[in-house]
Amino acid sequence: MKSDYTEIIAAYKEKPGGIIEAYHALQRAYNYIPEEAVASAAQAFGMSKAEAWGVATFYSYFKVGERGRYIIRICESAPCHIAGADKVVAALEKHLGIKMGETTPDGKFTLEFTECVGQCQATPVITINCKPYEDVTPEGVGEILAKCQ
Ligand code: FES
Repeated sequence: MKSDYTEIIAAYKEKPGGIIEAYHALQRAYNYIPEEAVASAAQAFGMSKAEAWGVATFYSYFKVGERGRYIIRICESAPCHIAGADKVVAALEKHLGIKMGETTPDGKFTLEFTECVGQCQATPVITINCKPYEDVTPEGVGEILAKCQ
């Protein structure tokens, strides 16, 4: 695994602002930025670890640390909220046995909030690895999760 992320980082080493592109590439490859990769990026881009860590955590898009294979995001913007997103959150947490922001111990699912994903005609909306599911009900959550195999 180690060589994988060092190779990804090395590919952006000579580019101006390459650390951001390297982080994007890492997140594409892993779904998150491995913690060890931040130290490796610091070395490659001649920064302190604190600086490299600061870049990774400044942008909310980047996620440092392990995440699940399926990233489930629940829209918490007003239209979804009014349509009962909190009940969908409760159902997801109950089914998976984790709280928002957590990953299941088997590394399969991560629960996160998101802003509006542009599907407000069919609230509440969740996305699983960026694929939107519309008009989600607490009762329908089990069926949606069962499709993630
Ligand atoms: S408010 Fe949830 S998708 Fe737009």
